[in-house]
Amino acid sequence: MTTSTASLYERLGRREGITRITRELMKNHLANPLVKTRFEKSEDLARVERRAVEFFCAGTGGPETYTGQDMLATHRGMNISEQEFIAVIDDAMAALETCGIDTPTCNEVLAVLWSMKREVIRV
Ligand code: HEM
Repeated sequence: MTTSTASLYERLGRREGITRITRELMKNHLANPLVKTRFEKSEDLARVERRAVEFFCAGTGGPETYTGQDMLATHRGMNISEQEFIAVIDDAMAALETCGIDTPTCNEVLAVLWSMKREVIRV
């Protein structure tokens, strides 16, 4: 039996890897007809990307501090649909694949993202 001791943060390539994955994620969102207008409307996409990097680093076991609002407050009032939620997760999975992340690690990220649906969809 093999056991994995590396944290999710380490397996995603620490801050450097997570920054690359997040850049791909934003690129995918801006090319995805199901969600692109949501992100095009943002007043400061550079800030969103920076905060997303912090969020993923802090949430996967890294030493970074997330300086944004929680997921409920961030997405409150946006009336995000189930379809948009799945589209965003698909974009994340594609970004992980592009960055060469192994399948078990991708599945772990998938489970974490899925668990946040009640804080994002129609809140
Ligand atoms: C589990 C899924 C999701 C996670 C973990 C997540 C995470 C985040 C984070 C960390 C931010 C940055 C907050 C900040 O700048 O302070 C953000 C912003 C944003 N999210 Fe999400 N998000 C998710 C799903 C979605 C979905 C499904 C949509 C709709 C398509 C969406 C639309 C947005 C938009 C438009 C912003 C930018 C708001 C602004 O300009 O201030 N998110 N999200």
